Amino acid sequence: MDARTKELIEELAQEHTLSAGGYEHLVRHQDEQSAALLAEHATAVRKRVYGTDVYVRGLIEFSSICKNDCLYCGLRASNHSCQRYRLSREQILSCTDLGYDLGFRTFVLQGGEDGWFDDDRLCDIVQAVRAQHPDCAITLSVGERQRESYARLREAGADRYLLRHETADPDHYARLHPTSMSFDNRMRCLYDLRDLGYAVGVGMMVGSPYQTPAHLARDLEFIDEFKPEMCGIGPFIPHHATPFASMPAGTLEQTCYLLSIIRLIHPPVLLPATTALGTIDPFGREKGMLAGANVVMPNLSPTDVRSKYLLYDGKICMGDEAAECHRCLELRMERVGYHVVVDRGDPKAAIA
Ligand code: 5AD
Ligand code: FES
Repeated sequence: MDARTKELIEELAQEHTLSAGGYEHLVRHQDEQSAALLAEHATAVRKRVYGTDVYVRGLIEFSSICKNDCLYCGLRASNHSCQRYRLSREQILSCTDLGYDLGFRTFVLQGGEDGWFDDDRLCDIVQAVRAQHPDCAITLSVGERQRESYARLREAGADRYLLRHETADPDHYARLHPTSMSFDNRMRCLYDLRDLGYAVGVGMMVGSPYQTPAHLARDLEFIDEFKPEMCGIGPFIPHHATPFASMPAGTLEQTCYLLSIIRLIHPPVLLPATTALGTIDPFGREKGMLAGANVVMPNLSPTDVRSKYLLYDGKICMGDEAAECHRCLELRMERVGYHVVVDRGDPKAAIA
């Protein structure tokens, strides 16, 4: 680690912000020492805000049907080898019931952009979950919709929304997505969600095709500006039936490095150690925790649909029942000194 890198890390730990040039320098000067120093500061900050608590979110992948054609994603509409399914309202509610008994107090309903789930149907499901579990947070992750739709879902009882920005650089965005999608609409969605009172989650893949250090610096600046309540980052992992099949995967090291930087930029951010991180390394999620993450998202989807929701190749937890996934993560977290708690896990105020 050179003197300038060390100086920037100390500045980030003190001020919780850097210039764009500062972020780019950090991204370009990642090595074992700089990663260790960032992780040390990030875990100190994480412990000040959240102690050793780990929040769990029960992930319910309720539809693998998607009208979009994102070049990186295994669920893209042009992938005709993907098996498509849709869970019924009853199946979704039995997932949340099971999750509640296991101790989950947040449910993430995630799916492709599936037109069948129009506002009436989705609001009905959100209302039903809300009525059955009034003490739980409901998080939606169903992509880009009209402002009016977000407003109705919020009224129906949704509290949080995950919509990764994917990249904060419009040209890079255009290389990852079909022309039918736009960076501007993505941003419109994120600002609408915030405006409507959702806790909002953004995020990007690490090592996505064509990504440069300048792009990552732009992502960090965006996170710094937007101050999302949540930020999901994980390595890009190629899916064999997409145009990016032969692109290299992102790395564990760079993902952990960025987790630490993001924790320092925005201390109260809810930062998951993602399934993708657990997929590229058998101890990826533990290493993510040790870099500053504070959330894990065990899979609550019925086991018979798990293998049909493949965004990338090699995804872990395919055969594991919800209870096994939950237990597995509890043990994994304990082994590195962190503790899964039964809590909605709302963002805490930063402690100076
Ligand atoms: N590798 C890693 N992450 C992916 N995602 C989609 N496809 C891949 C992939 N091949 C991420 C995107 C999306 C989230 C649900 O999953 O960032 O927003
Ligand atoms: Fe799913 Fe370990 S988290 S089996």
